[in-house]
Amino acid sequence: MELKLITANLGKINPSSIDDYLAHGGYRALQRVCDATETVSFTHDLKAAGLVGRGGAAFSTGLKREMAIRAEPTHPYPAPEWIPERYRYSSSFVVCNADESEPGTFKDRLLLEGDPFCIIEAMTITAFLACATVGFIYLRGEYPLAYERLTHALRVARERGYLGKRILRDDFAFDIEIRRGAGAYICGEETALFESIEGKRGEPRAKPPFPTDKGLFQRPTIINNVETFANIPFITLEGAQAYRRYGTKQSPGTRIVCVSGAAQKPGAYEIEMGTPLRYVIEELAGGLKPERTLQAILIGGAAGVFLKPDEIDVPLAFESLDAIGATFGSGAIVVLDDTAKMWGVLLRLARFFRNESCGKCLPCQIGTQRQLEILERMTQGRSRKLEQTDISPEELRLLRDTGAVMRDASLCGLGQTASNAILSAFDKKLIL
Ligand SMILES: Cc1cc2nc3c(=O)[nH]c(=O)nc-3n(C[C@H](O)[C@H](O)[C@H](O)COP(=O)(O)O)c2cc1C
Ligand code: SF4
Repeated sequence: MELKLITANLGKINPSSIDDYLAHGGYRALQRVCDATETVSFTHDLKAAGLVGRGGAAFSTGLKREMAIRAEPTHPYPAPEWIPERYRYSSSFVVCNADESEPGTFKDRLLLEGDPFCIIEAMTITAFLACATVGFIYLRGEYPLAYERLTHALRVARERGYLGKRILRDDFAFDIEIRRGAGAYICGEETALFESIEGKRGEPRAKPPFPTDKGLFQRPTIINNVETFANIPFITLEGAQAYRRYGTKQSPGTRIVCVSGAAQKPGAYEIEMGTPLRYVIEELAGGLKPERTLQAILIGGAAGVFLKPDEIDVPLAFESLDAIGATFGSGAIVVLDDTAKMWGVLLRLARFFRNESCGKCLPCQIGTQRQLEILERMTQGRSRKLEQTDISPEELRLLRDTGAVMRDASLCGLGQTASNAILSAFDKKLIL
């Protein structure tokens, strides 16, 4: 059901006013952490809350923090010359992934525009616990309003002593810088994002080492999605048990889903984990237009999978989606009614991956091109009636083989998932 746990301030407070944020409980969580005599319990609590990343990979946020806190310094002090002077003394970094480049996803923009101090507070809490003195927000370049509001919020937080030196106590200093992306999907991948912040070409690194060991500037780094950070003040203040009151046992809390496509009321809705997909589409998003029937649902973004109309009752929780071979991904839900041209949708997805592949590893660089070419061959000469076609078994086998090679041999998540949606459409006979 719809719930306002992390979106409670959206549309309610003035996002430019720190006083309004404070009046609605803002910075109480940071105060609590800074006043505590021992801090390890906050990370235990985060683990116990069961929060997992909302950026797509669904990794435990508490475990990530714990791993970064425990990581050994990766190179001696003073740090190497290539690291700019002002970053050399931070023993770790906190990074907010606000690149939000997954098609059909717009929840992070709403959080940043509507409640920027919450994200800044969450990053500051994380920095205090991980002894980081520098943080970055890597913001999608096409989000001018979010940039404006964040820049303003950072300045005000600095003026009011919530960033900079001596934040709420004498021994805590932390500040945040914004970096704007230039429109590359791959720069949302965490290690490509680090390369981009370091001023290099945004290409993923081989993992391990993982960011918690060697991330930004080779230092232990905690990188989280905007929505993941938005959960942290609540968990820090209320604790794991309070958080676990929402959602399912395996997927506690809430999730912001972004409904787009053929729904009557497309938009971002915060729901309790476990809410049925049908409720989201038919109740929250107003259902389809009159006389229309449901053809398919793309869940999890371009890297997700298609669901058939008879899968609409699936509860939106990690375990239930996993059980039907789907993923929650970035929380995108694209609704396709009977007027949608499935072949056109598949070609568009294939073009997206071909264009966005960074080219660093061959399985993805070549595979995404071949995948598009195969689909184009399948649809050749059938441009008027693209949904009816005879597919040669050889072509289909080639498409599946290409997908398998990309999945198994690509360096990063882009290539590993580039065939998921397309193959799911064939598997579920959505285009035949
Ligand atoms: C191609 C690609 C694009 C990605 N884009 C984003 C993005 O735009 N925003 C995001 O938060 N995570 C994105 N991710 C996931 C990040 O690599 C990383 O898992 C995430 O920032 C970790 O934060 P979380 O644990 O809070 O989810 C992307 C991953 C891949 C492979
Ligand atoms: S999988 Fe694709 S996007 Fe990722 S590193 Fe390889 S070529 Fe680049």
